Amino acid sequence: MNDLYERFSLSGKVALVTGGGGGLGAETAVTLARAGARVMISDLLPELAEATVLDIHRLGGEAVALRHDVTCEADWQQVIASTVDTFGGLDILVNNAGIEKVALFTESSLEEFRQMQDINVTGVFLGIKHAARVMRPGGAAGKGGTVINMSSVAGLVGLPGLGGYCTSKGAVRLMSKAAAIEFATLGYGIRVNSIHPAIIKTQLGANVVSGMVSIGLAPDQASADAFVQSLHPMGYGQPQDVASAVLFLASNASRWTNGSELVLDGGASAR
Ligand SMILES: NC(=O)c1ccc[n+]([C@@H]2O[C@H](COP(=O)([O-])OP(=O)(O)OC[C@H]3O[C@@H](n4cnc5c(N)ncnc54)[C@H](O)[C@@H]3O)[C@@H](O)[C@H]2O)c1
Repeated sequence: MNDLYERFSLSGKVALVTGGGGGLGAETAVTLARAGARVMISDLLPELAEATVLDIHRLGGEAVALRHDVTCEADWQQVIASTVDTFGGLDILVNNAGIEKVALFTESSLEEFRQMQDINVTGVFLGIKHAARVMRPGGAAGKGGTVINMSSVAGLVGLPGLGGYCTSKGAVRLMSKAAAIEFATLGYGIRVNSIHPAIIKTQLGANVVSGMVSIGLAPDQASADAFVQSLHPMGYGQPQDVASAVLFLASNASRWTNGSELVLDGGASAR
């Protein structure tokens, strides 16, 4: 039994969760801390990251908050260096920060399209790059590690009104696989996997539903909600469903899981 517990324990591990002030990132950071990790929580809005840190402190865990724009390479260098300085290593990176804009292809602005690719794709690329530099043998942390990239069911199937978002999340899926195979080939001891949740009613998830009304795909909020619900045969998921999957991928229980895409959608994409 102890052996089973140890496989899922993050005791002695150091994690960095981006976008850790928001819905899924906050729940994930708290879960990793409850499993024993010391957690660096970064977010564009530091006051949100601080709130997650307080939640973790209330539970007796260790966490620190940092302001971080995932599109900025200098920010990444600073956040990763601070994590290693503060906690003495880096074992787990959760590339969670992301945005979504609902828009029809014909009405999408180039600026919004580019912003989504910048945060959702370039942000993940920079995270993989700088985490791997410190996690690989000879790096400042040097013990290998695990990278978990937040994609979406929108990275597996096309969805109306979410063209730019689907583009970005599909890129995250294959970026994860490319990094996984490269790091395994180079003997870095770094696993990379992607997670693909369907709609969960965080700020972002709620925006997807209301966005269906604003772009004319649903006449009102109630029918938009009914439509999105109908896509989920087991109903909406909860942030905890994502956090539990991240815990698995972060822990030694998943030590042979690499380059995989973990779908969390209650069967929505199984049709
Ligand atoms: N909620 C869902 O239905 C759902 C489904 C599938 C995938 N996802 C993905 O999960 C991740 C988290 O989503 P969420 O629902 O918690 O969203 P959210 O909007 O509730 O939280 C996102 C967090 O990211 C932060 N952020 C935004 N831009 C940033 C930047 N440039 N640098 C650093 N931080 C930044 C925000 O401040 C916020 O705290 C995203 O990548 C999202 O695409 C969400």
